[in-house]
Amino acid sequence: MGKRIVLLTVISLLFLTCRIYGQENQGIPYLRKAGTMKQLILDGKPFIMLAGEVHNSSSSSIAYMDSVWPRMVGFHLNTLLVPVTWEMVEPEDGNFNFTIVDSLIIKAREFDLHLVVLWFGTWKNACSTYPPLWVRKNTERFKRARSVRGENLNAISCFSEEANEADAKAFASLMHHIGEFDGKEHTVLAVQVENEPGLRYVSRDYSPMAEAAFNKPVPAQLMDFLKKNRDILIPEFEEIWKNNGTKTRGRWTEIFGKDADEVFMAWYTGRYIDKVAQAGKAEYPLPMYANAWLDGGKAKPGDYPSGGPIAKMIPVWQAAAPHLDMLAPDIYRADFVNVCDAFSRMGNPLFIPETSFGPIAAENVFYAAAKGAICFSPFAIDNINRVPLNTPLAESYHLLSKFMPYLQEYQHTGKIIGFLGKSGDTKQVKLGNYLLSVSFTGNSFNIDSISCGIIIATSPDEFIAAGSGYTVTFISESESKPHAEVEYAYELVHKNGQWVRERRLNGDETGRGSIHNIGLRMEETKLTVKTAKIFCYD
Ligand code: DGJ
Repeated sequence: MGKRIVLLTVISLLFLTCRIYGQENQGIPYLRKAGTMKQLILDGKPFIMLAGEVHNSSSSSIAYMDSVWPRMVGFHLNTLLVPVTWEMVEPEDGNFNFTIVDSLIIKAREFDLHLVVLWFGTWKNACSTYPPLWVRKNTERFKRARSVRGENLNAISCFSEEANEADAKAFASLMHHIGEFDGKEHTVLAVQVENEPGLRYVSRDYSPMAEAAFNKPVPAQLMDFLKKNRDILIPEFEEIWKNNGTKTRGRWTEIFGKDADEVFMAWYTGRYIDKVAQAGKAEYPLPMYANAWLDGGKAKPGDYPSGGPIAKMIPVWQAAAPHLDMLAPDIYRADFVNVCDAFSRMGNPLFIPETSFGPIAAENVFYAAAKGAICFSPFAIDNINRVPLNTPLAESYHLLSKFMPYLQEYQHTGKIIGFLGKSGDTKQVKLGNYLLSVSFTGNSFNIDSISCGIIIATSPDEFIAAGSGYTVTFISESESKPHAEVEYAYELVHKNGQWVRERRLNGDETGRGSIHNIGLRMEETKLTVKTAKIFCYD
């Protein structure tokens, strides 16, 4: 028995190595461990998506998209997130049509862009409005979720095996096609499986299948995962478990008490999506993720989709959906930093497929990039009526795309910090050999007046700073040499593909208030990149 297990383990390790090696060999984009997180690797290098998501209906029309592509160039994007819907690719049972998919890929290449495909299959915003009509109309075959009163809802039940199989089959065909059409060029980098799943208006499904599952013990697969990962569990989830006595066996309500409905829905929604992702990966193994409509404030499960991959449900989703590589927040909340931090736990790579497209996006992207995000993508980027070109976002993307080599090199090394701050606030953080005191001075390049920045320690005494509207002071931590001073500082300007030194900075540019020559001042009026070397003396 023991020998068999060892043999099986060796075979699966070999299989896994071959798969990863195979992916590297064929150049299929994949995720590689970096520190405690992961990076997306394309052509041997980390790829960070400075992206935008088009509006839900945009990609349904090739003609409409024709007007979108040229506009995207002005944003300095490298990636566009585009919906591909089940009704679009399988309008009749078993008849597939990939005309729009091919057109999206061809056009993206023409405009030097990569794509993330958003699979609007069974669910989009917790409803089932994107499955083809032959699915939506057949409620007998594709069972709906039900309300407490037993009424059918506008969402297919995650307990509908027929729907799960049909969705997995359609998704597998799509991935097979993408693999054939794009397996060499790698225009498509990743795939979102469904969109903001979970169930709205009720905290759980009350269909007969759901009732039966709810009255059964919690599956051992989930409990084993929780036991195995007890030391690294998301604290908010651990709390739920603890509140009910940290039981390892029992029914949903016995183990998870008042949170049972949400955990139950997270498990079964995750299982459903895992089956879809698994079928797709078997055809073409791109990185895949599920995105979350976030909770927050006083919202209860059902106000937001109950069972969706919100931060505190990360452990349940990781257990339920091992074929997903990431759980991704759609961040429309004001506490952007908290959400990024919350989704960077338990090894979950940070991937932001949707975020507000206000001027604040231009600043938030700095924090996300330094935090190690694989993707930052404001929603409805093609909504040109609201968004003239030369937006603050375009300026940020322009700078960050040139700053990319630094991000690629330093993301996840612990030598990079990103920050956002309101005028008047200060923040202290240790980096290299120094304690950095950052004072936020506001930002006139953006009406939100939020300062944004990234600082990298390229050596223990040498720093590169990017952003706008802050002053950083370097404080010595050495007891024998308690004073710090700037050895030299320069503004860096991007010319002929390289960052070159231009103005040598001193005086007001390196001083702060009456204490001179200990830092860098990043103007409020524009985005800049500067470097400084610091020394200490007694
Ligand atoms: C979140 C959804 O995921 C998007 O598809 C879109 O509907 C936005 N909300 C609208 O704000």
